[in-house]
Amino acid sequence: MKECILGIETSCDETAAAVYDSQRGMLSSVLFSQIELHKKYGGVVPELASRAHIDKIDEIVQEALTAANVTLDDITTVGVTAKPGLPGSLLVGACFAKAIAGSTDKKIIAVDHLEGHAFSACIENSIPFPFLCITASGGHTSMYTISDFGKYQTIATTYDDAAGEAFDKIAKLLELGYPGGPIVEKRATEENFVDHFKYPRGDHKDINFSFSGLKTAVLYDLVKRGAYDLKTKTLLDTSEELKNKVCSSLLVCIADVFEQKLKIALDKHPEMKAFAFVGGVACNKYIRARLKNWAEKEGLNFFVPSPKYCTDNAGMIAFVAHYMAQKGQFSELSFDIL
Ligand code: KG4
Ligand code: ZN
Repeated sequence: MKECILGIETSCDETAAAVYDSQRGMLSSVLFSQIELHKKYGGVVPELASRAHIDKIDEIVQEALTAANVTLDDITTVGVTAKPGLPGSLLVGACFAKAIAGSTDKKIIAVDHLEGHAFSACIENSIPFPFLCITASGGHTSMYTISDFGKYQTIATTYDDAAGEAFDKIAKLLELGYPGGPIVEKRATEENFVDHFKYPRGDHKDINFSFSGLKTAVLYDLVKRGAYDLKTKTLLDTSEELKNKVCSSLLVCIADVFEQKLKIALDKHPEMKAFAFVGGVACNKYIRARLKNWAEKEGLNFFVPSPKYCTDNAGMIAFVAHYMAQKGQFSELSFDIL
C-alpha cells in the first residue's frame, strides 16, 4: 500500500524530521542539532534539550515537508520516536506527532529509536539477511542479529557506559570539548593511530561491552604518569603531545574491543551474511576501516550508513515506520513514551 511517512525524532539533542515515500524512498531528512547549546556543559542538559525541541519542532517539520516537496495532506502516517530517550524530549516529539495525527486524521506509529539505528544501514543499501549489527552511539552500545525488517535479537549490550560516552567523558577529562568522538578522531589521526598506552581491552570472552572501566583505566594511567591530580580533579599535563597520545591509544583500544566482540558474535552466529556498523560512533573513519577489514576477511559484506544516518536523525525513524505501516503495525493515539 502506498504510504507517505512523516518521521519525527526528538529523543535526545537533535530535533529532526523526515519524509519517506513508499514509491520514491527518502524525500527529505532534516535536523537541528543542539550541540552548541550543550557544549559548555560538556554533555546534554535534559531540561534545556526539551525546551529547545519545543522551540524548533514546528520549523523543522515544515522544513522536512518543504524539502520533500509535499504538504501535510500528502502524509498518510506519522512515525515518531517513543523510546528510549530523555523523557522530556521524547514528550515533545510524541505530543507534536499526536497533534498532527489527531487533528488531520492520520495514522500514527510509535518507533523504537534503537530499531531506527539498527536498520539505518538499510536506508541506502540492500543488505542480505541475516546480518550482524553494532549500534554505537552516545547513549547506547548494542549488538544484534537481524533476520528481517523489524525482526532482530539483541545479543550484546553494555554493562555501563556507551562507546560514544567513553569518547565524550575522556575528552572532557582531557579538556577537549564536546562531543568527544570527532575530536579524539582528529587527534588520533595526527598521532598516526599509535597505541602508546595500551589500555586494557576488557574480558576477551564476554560478548557484552563495558566502557566505564576504560575511562577509569585512562584516568589512573594519567595519574600514574603525574599528568592528573585526583584530589583537585585537574589535568596537570596539558601538552598537546600527551592529549594526542591518549586519543590515539583510546581509539585503537575501542576499535580492538569492537573487533573482539564481533569475533565472539560470529563464532556464535556463523550464519550471518553481512555486518552493519551504525550509530554516531560509526562516523569514525578509523573504526570503520578496521571493522570493514575484519568483516571482509571473514567473508561478510560490510555496510555503514552515510554520516547523516549514523548520528541521530528522523530518516531512520521514518524508514522503520514505513515497514511497520506496510505490516499494519499502527499505534493507538494514546500510546505513552518510555
Ligand atoms: O547517534 P548519536 O548522534 O546520538 C546518540 O544516540 O547518542 O551519537 C553521538 C555520539 C557521541 O558520543 C559522539 O562523541 C559520537 O557519537 N561520535 C563519534 C564520532 N562522531 C560522533 N565517535 C567517534 N568518532 C566520531 N567521528
Ligand atoms: Zn541515537
